[in-house]
Amino acid sequence: MKRTALITGATSGLGYEFVKLFAADGYNLVLVARNNQKLEEIKHTFPHIEVTIIAKDLSVPGAANEVFQEVKKKGINIDALINNAGFGLMGNFVDLDLQKQSEMIQLNITALTELTYYFLPSLKQQNKARILNVASTAAFQPGPLMAVYYATKAYVLSFSEALVEELKGSSVTVTTLCPGATKTNFGSVASVEGTKMFSRAMSSKIVAQQGYQAMMHGKRVIITGGLNKAGALAAKFLPRSLGAKIAMYVAGEK
Ligand SMILES: NC(=O)c1ccc[n+]([C@@H]2O[C@H](COP(=O)([O-])OP(=O)(O)OC[C@H]3O[C@@H](n4cnc5c(N)ncnc54)[C@H](OP(=O)(O)O)[C@@H]3O)[C@@H](O)[C@H]2O)c1
Repeated sequence: MKRTALITGATSGLGYEFVKLFAADGYNLVLVARNNQKLEEIKHTFPHIEVTIIAKDLSVPGAANEVFQEVKKKGINIDALINNAGFGLMGNFVDLDLQKQSEMIQLNITALTELTYYFLPSLKQQNKARILNVASTAAFQPGPLMAVYYATKAYVLSFSEALVEELKGSSVTVTTLCPGATKTNFGSVASVEGTKMFSRAMSSKIVAQQGYQAMMHGKRVIITGGLNKAGALAAKFLPRSLGAKIAMYVAGEK
């Protein structure tokens, strides 16, 4: 029987790379994002597999449950849940729009948590099931000028690592992908393209491949790129106040 992966944020960047990787491995797909036209286009790119599209704004409260209900109604069993959709915003916390920052929390944290909650019982019924949660190297230290974004990614890492322990001995593995700057639409959405942190952005294809392989091997955490690994390691030993200062420095213009 064919396996099925549900991917959020499937229309661009890392999400679309995951779509290609799962499709190449013969998975059927459930794709979630807001842009219905792009979802339709992607569906027609992969005629050899079953692609179900769900156009949904996951920053709206209750959206995760609506996705779950739609998947259940269609009788689809999910074997891999890829919580990838997310966005960031650059600026002083108090100067950024509050509504936008609340939507970020809703998408990056609440939707990811609720999708995991709804799908976990059925994932546990599968022979072998995978969860991949996309965090960031932002998870390892406070991030002035992207305060809410960094905090959402710290949540994703902490939540996911806790689940690893709870799910030991079950058929479900949880992997957290922590990319550093990566060439996707994220940079323009977050207005960070001109910053020092984006001067060495990695290819989205390579980042997604590394995340995919780590997930398939059931690894706990994958940090992409040598410099990013070194940065995450340094963050473990440096005072958090210094980590915050470095994060503020790299958020500055090139
Ligand atoms: N690129 C980086 O430098 C970087 C670094 C570390 C971590 N990350 C993380 O990687 C993940 C993927 O981002 P990306 O870099 O691939 O960015 P991206 O190219 O902007 O892709 C974001 C995806 O999320 C979807 N999305 C955005 N808002 C949504 C909403 N409210 N409801 C449903 N779907 C929504 C977008 O599709 P629609 O517009 O069609 O909804 C798109 O498919 C994010 O969690 C991000 O935080 C990225």
